[in-house]
Order: sequence, then structure tokens, then C-alpha cells
Amino acid sequence: MKRIVLFASGSGSNVENIVQYFQDNSEVTVAAVFTNKSDAKVLDRCKTLKISALYFNRTSFYDTDCLLDILKGMKPDLIVLAGFLWKIPEKLVQSFPNKIVNIHPALLPKYGGKGMYGMNVHNAVKANNEQETGITIHFVNENYDEGAIIKQEKTQIAPEDSADDIAKKIHELEYKHFPKVIDQILHG
Ligand code: GRF
Repeated sequence: MKRIVLFASGSGSNVENIVQYFQDNSEVTVAAVFTNKSDAKVLDRCKTLKISALYFNRTSFYDTDCLLDILKGMKPDLIVLAGFLWKIPEKLVQSFPNKIVNIHPALLPKYGGKGMYGMNVHNAVKANNEQETGITIHFVNENYDEGAIIKQEKTQIAPEDSADDIAKKIHELEYKHFPKVIDQILHG
């Protein structure tokens, strides 16, 4: 059985989608969801989905090896960042080489880097009158949004699309492609 560990900071609609995608899969299981926000909606979703969920604080993530040791003990085949907003510490990247993936709601290298998350990205895309945007699934290294790209998918933006409309289009792309890409990575 391949084991996925998910990280999320917010709503967790991608988490829910990934959990549902692998629900009846006898080869892949979502072992746990980790969150850095004790009031994140993802925790409610995990409760409903009956998926193990754990909250952690900065001390466990950055100042000690607490979370690292827990993760090592879980022996994940893949760590998936699905709307997770904290920078991944170097020790974690080094402990899980090519085993951490992130989804970014734009076509990297455009609209990446610190502060570029959620609606900030879509507002910037709209402000620049972009005609297309998309998603980037990539490996995680020590720098925000800079690891090797695994897959990008595009969507067109109509002139009348608001930033919210763009966000919706992006979520649709994420739901369609992210679980499949995770599946492919797990199976080499
Ligand atoms: C997604 O758009 C993802 O690309 C970004 O954060 C958003 C998370 O949405 N990194 P949700 O929490 O999965 O609903």
C-alpha cells in the first residue's frame, strides 16, 4: 500500500477531492492530513471523511524535529501540499527528496513566490489582463515555487471573467488533474 500524507492550511477542497479519488483504491491510501491552522475548514472535512487529521504549530515545524520525526515514522511515499502556505524547512526537503509535491494556482514561473497564494494570484492575473492561466504541479525544494515542474494545465480567461471566475476555473483544473498526477507519481 502506498501512503500519502497531505498538508493544507485552509478550506481543503483539494484534500477532499484527493481523499475521494483514492477512497476505493486498494493500492493507495491517505494516511493523514496535517494542518498549521487549528480552525481550518479542512479539519471539518477530515472529520466528515473520517481521515486522520493533525494540527501542528511553528515550534514543531521549524524549531524542533518534532513534526519531522512524526513524518519519518509514517514512512510516506508522497507528501502532498494542497493549499499549504508555510515554507517547507530545508531539513524536511532533504529528508524526503523528490517526495514532496505542491500545486500552485498559476503557470509558474509566473505569479509565484512569497505572498503569491490564493486570491492574490488570481487578482494579479486579472490585473495584468492575462488571456490564460493555469495550474502547476511541481516538486518542492528549498525555495517557494521553484522545484522541478511535473505538470502544467492551462485554461482560457474571458475578458469578462472576474478574479472569482478565474479561481473557479483553476479549482476545476485542480480537481481534474491533481489526483491523477499524484497517482502517476506514486506508480513511477
Ligand atoms: C488551491 O487553489 C491551491 O492551488 C492553492 O491553494 C488553493 C487551495 O484550495 N495552493 P483548497 O483549500 O484546496 O480549497
